[in-house]
Amino acid sequence: MCGIVGYVGERNAAPILLDGLQKLEYRGYDSAGIAVAEGGKFTVVKRKGRVKGLSAARSLAGKTGVGHTRWATHGAPSERNAHPHLFGGICVVHNGIVENAAALKAVCEARGETFSSETDSEVIAHLVAAEQGDLLHAVRAAAEKLVGSYAIAVLSESAPDTIVCARKASPLVVGYGEDGLFVASDIPAIAAAGRRVYTLADGEFAVLKKGTAPAFYDASLRSVEKREIAYDAEEDIPEKRGFRHFMKKEIAEVPEAVARSIPDLSKGDFSELYEVLCQTEYLHIVACGTAYHSGLCMKHAVQKFARLPAEAFIASEYRYSDPIVPKNTLAVAVSQSGETADTLAAAALAKERGARVLAVTNVPYSSLERMSDFVLPTRAGREIAVAATKSFNAQLAALYALAGALAESRGKSAPPLAGIQPLVREAAAAGERVRSWMPYFVGAKSVFFLGRGADYVAACEGSLKLKEISYLPSEGYPAGELKHGTLALVDGRTPVVAVVTDPALADKTMNAVHEVYARGAAVFLITNVSACLSCAEITASVLLPKCEPAYSPMLSSLPLQLLAYYVAIARGNDPDKPRNLAKSVTVE
Ligand code: F6R
Repeated sequence: MCGIVGYVGERNAAPILLDGLQKLEYRGYDSAGIAVAEGGKFTVVKRKGRVKGLSAARSLAGKTGVGHTRWATHGAPSERNAHPHLFGGICVVHNGIVENAAALKAVCEARGETFSSETDSEVIAHLVAAEQGDLLHAVRAAAEKLVGSYAIAVLSESAPDTIVCARKASPLVVGYGEDGLFVASDIPAIAAAGRRVYTLADGEFAVLKKGTAPAFYDASLRSVEKREIAYDAEEDIPEKRGFRHFMKKEIAEVPEAVARSIPDLSKGDFSELYEVLCQTEYLHIVACGTAYHSGLCMKHAVQKFARLPAEAFIASEYRYSDPIVPKNTLAVAVSQSGETADTLAAAALAKERGARVLAVTNVPYSSLERMSDFVLPTRAGREIAVAATKSFNAQLAALYALAGALAESRGKSAPPLAGIQPLVREAAAAGERVRSWMPYFVGAKSVFFLGRGADYVAACEGSLKLKEISYLPSEGYPAGELKHGTLALVDGRTPVVAVVTDPALADKTMNAVHEVYARGAAVFLITNVSACLSCAEITASVLLPKCEPAYSPMLSSLPLQLLAYYVAIARGNDPDKPRNLAKSVTVE
């Protein structure tokens, strides 16, 4: 999703902005641009496509500037629509969505102003330019008119050594070091040893003025004292460490991510959370995409071990479904980035209706962490590839542990997770066999993933992964539901992957295997039920180690992630940067 970088200080801004934008590339974008102020005038360079297209701008002179990577929402990806946007001596970069842009634009046009882009963002430059007073007051007056979400960094020709920033529902961090002042949408863009970093809260403003410490203000422009956050500057340097892609490296990191993310909920730090678990009568899990799938896996485990009513909701649906939130509901909000707009809104709604909110997130200091009552961190380490891999398995580790604690709080028990890491490692090694499946998948018309129970959730996750990086149409389907309509789609160009890890359901899922085989499909099996391997209808298989069926997505996800990875490569796609997608979805 969109990225912001800004700098003011004693050094030339352009190289700092370009390096910062490169560090935000993993978020996904389709155009990029920078503006540098020199002698009271802005020089703007924008390009459709990658940040490297801006390299000629590296030599621009000017010690104040802002940069942006854009993920199109209003208006096609193009040079014209790329940020920064200029109007009336004001220069703006914006993340988020201005929902009332059309109405605001009409007011500006009635004043005789013309627009140079189709974006919602450009109107912010017009609004700021129309205000009197200093830049901070002008930005605040403009911000008050905006409906929607924003993180903005604003420059003015009349205040050449200053950047004013504001945030509402879109992340923004400020950095301060001997070499100057920085602003960015994400810590990695400005992380450096010795540099202090501060996060902006919703409704806050920051003024970065050369030669002074950053100043922070609340919505009424009262000065706010901020504490710097602790972060590991070293950890924030993303490296492939010999792997061809970040995605492959991150799949290789799954076993460690899992081991690190299993919390010891009996520890003192969690005693208050444990008390809440004891009182919990309903569980609402809210999340999007892959995180929603890990929520569904948790629902299965909670029902099985704790016998507690649990429901997983797609966050974007939950927030508009007028949900019933009974007394003693615990809302578990799952998000790798901790910045997903829909998940934040769903968690806020659950809280407003009386639920306690537990964040399960991979990013310390994220918006989700800050708005939640409790935090269960996943410790997957930074995930750069857009497709979630190690963060999914890390979420499962934390969520299964939580399911176990819920069971314990009711005098029941769940199988221990302690021995799972070697099994995950084995599953990763076994999963490499999918590489030989490529001839069946590369030119496929579409792909089906089948399973029952927790295997059905794994099938959905396998399908999502394949879709997003191979661009092959695909569906995860409950094995028993196929014959109620979808079987009509299956033919000789529809490979089917069946996930079978629950011995109690194995025969049932194998019935679906017979049905698709009879329609000409090549069938691939991911299983730990060895009896299934003797089925003559199977084209190829991956044999996983045995484990508690409710936990098996932790293992079956590995061959599925690898399958998506190898198919993407075989089809000539970049698995790290799938088209149209963003890592951190900060707009609704
Ligand atoms: C899929 C994927 C997305 C994310 C979703 C939620 O591979 O990465 O579906 O899982 O956008 O993101 P977070 O977990 O950051 O809230």
